[in-house]
Amino acid sequence: MLTIALPKGRIGEDTLILFSKIFNTNFSFNDRKLILEHGGFRFLLVRNQDVPTYVQYGAANLGVVGLDILEEGKAPVVRLLNLGFGKCKVVVGTECLKPLDLQKPRLKIATKLANITKHHFAKKAIAIDVIKLYGSIELAPLVGLSDAIVDIVETGTTMKQNNLEVYEVIMDSSAYLVANKNSFFEYKDEILALREKCAKALAL
Ligand code: PRP
Repeated sequence: MLTIALPKGRIGEDTLILFSKIFNTNFSFNDRKLILEHGGFRFLLVRNQDVPTYVQYGAANLGVVGLDILEEGKAPVVRLLNLGFGKCKVVVGTECLKPLDLQKPRLKIATKLANITKHHFAKKAIAIDVIKLYGSIELAPLVGLSDAIVDIVETGTTMKQNNLEVYEVIMDSSAYLVANKNSFFEYKDEILALREKCAKALAL
């Protein structure tokens, strides 16, 4: 039986809708249960950022996770299919009408995506200090904790309501179906069949 790690939240909900379509029945996790068996598969409900870890170490054969998380963690997993949902952008955000002051010797950037942030500014030869946060990133520049943020924008509402604007887009992200490297070779036929079913259900 193949085990698939699904993320809690927006991507997880869309994935359950996708699998409901594939298996032709509605299914969801029961109350606080974290394991669900359905249609010959076992589903694990995990935090978005933890999906690559479950897949990398083989606790799950497959997983669904945002490209932003994959790029941030550089986990050695096989990227099987861009599922197309969970679309968002990773952006540099600044307070409205206060663009980045590149004259400063070092800029303070608040983010939960420390690696993407370091890589982005290193490429531009801009010196930064990363201020690592775990949520409500948009608050940081408003209270002087940072000069700017690197964060996810989906609808843009959070930035707008906090008087922030997109300074530049770093990358586009969406949900990917990924596999453990060994599992991919061991269960290639099964995994590729599931990949096909996903692509067909999404009409990719
Ligand atoms: C994410 C992200 C932004 C928000 C963007 O946060 O960090 O805060 O969503 O969405 P929007 O453009 O549609 O407003 P999340 O909801 O994951 O919560 P967090 O702040 O705890 O990370």
